[in-house]
Amino acid sequence: MMRRIDFLSMIAFVAVCFLSGAAWSQQRPAKGQGLRAEKKILIVYLSRTNNTKAVADIIHEKVGGILVALELQTPYPADYHATVQQVVRENETGYLPPLKTVIDGPDQYDFVFVGFPTWDMKLPPPMKSFLHHYSFRGKTIIPFNTNGGYGPGSTFQTVRELCPQSTVLQGFSTRGGSERDGQLLAIKDGTAEEVRTEVDKWLRTIGMLKLSVSQLQ
Ligand SMILES: Cc1cc2nc3c(=O)[nH]c(=O)nc-3n(C[C@H](O)[C@H](O)[C@H](O)COP(=O)(O)O)c2cc1C
Repeated sequence: MMRRIDFLSMIAFVAVCFLSGAAWSQQRPAKGQGLRAEKKILIVYLSRTNNTKAVADIIHEKVGGILVALELQTPYPADYHATVQQVVRENETGYLPPLKTVIDGPDQYDFVFVGFPTWDMKLPPPMKSFLHHYSFRGKTIIPFNTNGGYGPGSTFQTVRELCPQSTVLQGFSTRGGSERDGQLLAIKDGTAEEVRTEVDKWLRTIGMLKLSVSQLQ
């Protein structure tokens, strides 16, 4: 009789362990299948016509984390040419526009993705403000960029200069829109699918997603 009770208790114990294990695995986020799912990830992006946002959304879908759009206390004008002139002036004077966006507990993040368009072939002043304001010392910074066809310019170099005590990984850059020519959101439909594939490859190369079998061969 005693043996039978022991046996039943053991079965009950194993069942409880199994069920609690299943419940635990269900609590894990569906998003963020990356190698770094256990680390805290912040994705901050600046986007005027949503191309950089489209890339940020793809990264978020793949690695998870907290996604934040960078906003200014005083937004840039709606007019493209007025914005270009203002940005040129800000770059000449080194003006750092005050941010409306506040990051709660920036120290909690291990990996900080920073996304921005190329403006005036440089890092946009709002992203300079962001990297001046928050010290990501000892953290890993991962830049990404969209541009109107002239590439990232000096943006990645400026990120490295503004984050001397962080590890800055290889950046990702792709062609976005060209507001000057009336083309706003270009990273959509088939183009978004192509960018999704490029982003996936880049995230694997920098170790933020597991390498696929073909990449290991
Ligand atoms: C003020 C301003 C300056 C720009 N300067 C450049 C530039 O120097 N080189 C370039 O390739 N594209 C330039 N562009 C185009 C943007 O980089 C491109 O459209 C980008 O995809 C926009 O990203 P967004 O949709 O996230 O705002 C500029 C756009 C703006 C608004």
